Amino acid sequence: MSAKFHFINHACFTIEKNGSTIIFDPFLDGNPEGLTAKDFKVDHVFISHAHFDHLGSAFEIAKNCDATVISTAEVCGLAEAAGCKNHGMHLGGTFRFPFGKVRIAMAFHGSGVAGGHACGFIIDFYGTTFYFAGDTALYSDMQLLQTLDKFAYAILPIGGNFTMDPQDAAIAAKFLKAKYVIPIHYNTWPPITQDVNAYKANVEKSTSSKVLVVKPGKTIEME
Ligand code: NI
Ligand code: MN
Repeated sequence: MSAKFHFINHACFTIEKNGSTIIFDPFLDGNPEGLTAKDFKVDHVFISHAHFDHLGSAFEIAKNCDATVISTAEVCGLAEAAGCKNHGMHLGGTFRFPFGKVRIAMAFHGSGVAGGHACGFIIDFYGTTFYFAGDTALYSDMQLLQTLDKFAYAILPIGGNFTMDPQDAAIAAKFLKAKYVIPIHYNTWPPITQDVNAYKANVEKSTSSKVLVVKPGKTIEME
């Protein structure tokens, strides 16, 4: 059975498979479908870090759905204080959930919460495997990630200013060796305006990855 990837906006997306839905970094401002926290029915809420454009409506969605927040210990501390079910993990940690395995990957970026660290996730969701980088700078140890857990999709920020720009994210694609790359975290605001089609052309010329450009509000089928 295939999975459905739905891009909400910015760094927020849902993946649905086997009747279960997970959501990532649910910042809903400006999403073209006008979705609000009460429109979601999800089982898990993943939060890469606590900057406002990632934390967004995470706790409201988790509470509405009785869903479990999965993040670093510090962000889960905020979730706990907000009254949400949560499962705290940390960098390099793996855990096997009923849907599959989660690894917390490094992200070189601020955490948005004192004492914390931003993260990414490598997830096996009922056999659909992907790496969501969160917000991060390019770092050379990205090359190790496929040796730890194989993933078919790499979901990468390309906006620059706060994260990797298209040039850096093309090197990341080379490091990550995923079958597919899905660019996110661009064109939300003027400082992160980028030409995604130029990124696609560059990555497809310089790597064997295929770049899937998904517009906010659109859904694609995943392997
Ligand atoms: Ni951030
Ligand atoms: Mn961000």
